[in-house]
Amino acid sequence: MKVVVIQGPNLNLLGSREPNIYGGMKMEDIHSQMKVVAEQNSIEIEFFQSNLEGELVDRIQECIGDADGIIINPAAYTHSSIAIRDAIAAANLPVIEVHISNLARREEFRQKSMIEPFTAGKISGFGPVGYHLAMVAMIQIFEQIKVAKAARENAPKEN
Ligand code: DQA
Repeated sequence: MKVVVIQGPNLNLLGSREPNIYGGMKMEDIHSQMKVVAEQNSIEIEFFQSNLEGELVDRIQECIGDADGIIINPAAYTHSSIAIRDAIAAANLPVIEVHISNLARREEFRQKSMIEPFTAGKISGFGPVGYHLAMVAMIQIFEQIKVAKAARENAPKEN
């Protein structure tokens, strides 16, 4: 099974960007921790960050037929991007939305998520550990997919 982690604009600055809101951990260190968990669970993992909407759309499209799940923090595009929303809908994969900050406690313009209706769930407000929680949730989703597949394969064939 393969998960792709997609990070939106300004998340490359994690560690130095508004640490009072986003914490002091660098994006690379978050990814290193996710990689350890992925390896422990025999899951392939890839990481992608871009500040450009179209590049994020391209990377989501590349997941079609290649990945089994997406963990995404679209950052500011969460609240505005119909293109990312449409790409997520088209991918038709289990998607977990992550936000480092607690969006419910922030400005009005951050209250709307364009992708939320197409996600398995959203993790928001736990700081960088949210990415780890998303991995745990994705591992559970992958287990459910495997169980459902095995049940289908073992089901008696109809004549
Ligand atoms: C964010 C929240 C967004 O509103 C903001 O634009 C970000 C980061 C978060 O992780 O808390 O860049 O997605």
